[in-house]
Amino acid sequence: MAFFEQLTERFYERVASDEVLRPLYPDDLGPPRRRLCLFLVQFWGGPRLYEEQRGNPQLRARHMRWEIGLRERDRWLEHMVAALEASPAGPLERAQLRGHFEAVANHLVNAGDAAGQNGRRGAPSAGPGLRLRPPAAERR
Ligand code: HEM
Repeated sequence: MAFFEQLTERFYERVASDEVLRPLYPDDLGPPRRRLCLFLVQFWGGPRLYEEQRGNPQLRARHMRWEIGLRERDRWLEHMVAALEASPAGPLERAQLRGHFEAVANHLVNAGDAAGQNGRRGAPSAGPGLRLRPPAAERR
């Protein structure tokens, strides 16, 4: 628990001064930090507090009200990777966490050309039930 508290704290410290991401979040970054922390604790096998408080994660649906393109995804990942690098995680844990963050971040891209590729490339954690949109060329 302490690990993810520290990780999300470092991550949101960076988001606080990011001109692309900051406008997407509410004024008080405390609650978003806590939600991300509880989600990660639960995902990595800890207590299921996220579910108790927020229900099923349904992250893609929950992120639909923001336009998330490659720019937003890359900023998010950049800050998370920096937070990971400053964490006490060893090389194996780092690689596993990074793989998870990259997969979820790709899955959440919902705007721009890359959104149409979702589920085809780079979204191995999407799992069953994801509605795939065909690439723009096939949509017409
Ligand atoms: C791809 C770039 C991403 C952007 C631009 C983004 C943006 C946001 C924003 C604006 C919120 C609302 C803040 C709040 O009030 O809680 C949010 C919530 C959240 N995000 Fe992301 N996010 C991204 C990627 C991710 C990833 C990769 C994960 C998980 C590994 C994640 C997990 C969450 C969770 C758990 C919440 C809280 C959902 C809830 O219970 O309401 N996000 N995100």
